[in-house]
Amino acid sequence: MAEIKCVGVVGAGQMGSGIAQLAATNGLDVWIMDADRDALSRATAAISSSVNRFVSKGLLSKARSLSVICALQEVGDDAMRRLRLTSNLQDLRSADIIIEAILESEDIKKKLFKELDGLAKSSAILASNTSSISITRLASATQRPTQVIGMHFMNPPPIMKLVEIIRGADTSEETFIATKALAERFGKTTVCSQDYAGFIVNRILMPMINEAFHTLYTGVATKEDIDSGMKHGTNQPMGPLELADLIGLDVCLSIMKVLHQGLGDSKYAPCPLLVQYVDAGRLGRKRGVGVYDYR
Ligand code: CAA
Repeated sequence: MAEIKCVGVVGAGQMGSGIAQLAATNGLDVWIMDADRDALSRATAAISSSVNRFVSKGLLSKARSLSVICALQEVGDDAMRRLRLTSNLQDLRSADIIIEAILESEDIKKKLFKELDGLAKSSAILASNTSSISITRLASATQRPTQVIGMHFMNPPPIMKLVEIIRGADTSEETFIATKALAERFGKTTVCSQDYAGFIVNRILMPMINEAFHTLYTGVATKEDIDSGMKHGTNQPMGPLELADLIGLDVCLSIMKVLHQGLGDSKYAPCPLLVQYVDAGRLGRKRGVGVYDYR
């Protein structure tokens, strides 16, 4: 498998821009593609602001050991230079790995994987940042199932330490090793999951968030007390409802549906309050309102 020098990222939302940032700050060339040009502009602003925060805290040198001789600002500038934006998927054909971070719809992702398979180098890995959709089924849309893998970053990707790596039924050992090495180059800890609904993290995290919605829905406590209880009582950086707003309530709902359908147990049924918030367009921080109002 060819050395990874160029990374393609599809989707310039929170996750895609964070992944592109990690690649650029770790010395790789990056193409980030999104059909929405406004999303690309927002991504550049978010990446620039985040890189500046790391530079001002002196943290980039830890992520890039070879850069110790460079001034930190130079590392930040170098990262921004490595980043290329495009609305044309064809521009990703020079990438050694393409990481998909678009919306959580199996049909849309499969269509994209089929297109990527047609344009990517024959040696390229096709990775998905999906939080719960089957890697085996995404791989089935391509002619290279051995080179398809799950590379699941946590939100926000530049900060969170974990990348969950998911092996599809046909993912090769070579693809797994190269993907794990890339995540480690990004300074991440990795865990490996088999390809079952929700993988490791969301299999455990989402039922907790769903239960927090039930706790609110059934009037057990206020949202503030639910979050404060879990934050201070179990030492989590944020309470489950705040975290749901950060992740996006639509994403939480879609993962609960995947768990419910994939594992076939009624304990995974999405809470009606979560469903109602999503129906009302209260999707969390990205919309300015979710469980909390950020406007
Ligand atoms: N880039 C650079 N720095 C950032 C940043 C970013 N994107 N986001 C936050 N930071 C930095 C801030 O500058 C700040 O640094 P200092 O402490 O040096 O000032 C630090 O991180 C903390 O940030 P804030 O003060 O803004 O806020 P906070 O203390 O609440 O931390 C948080 C924010 C890191 C998100 C923290 O609340 C946290 O860890 N929350 C839990 C997040 C989590 O669990 N994510 C996983 C979700 S599950 C998932 O993603 C899987 C899925 O499929 C759904």
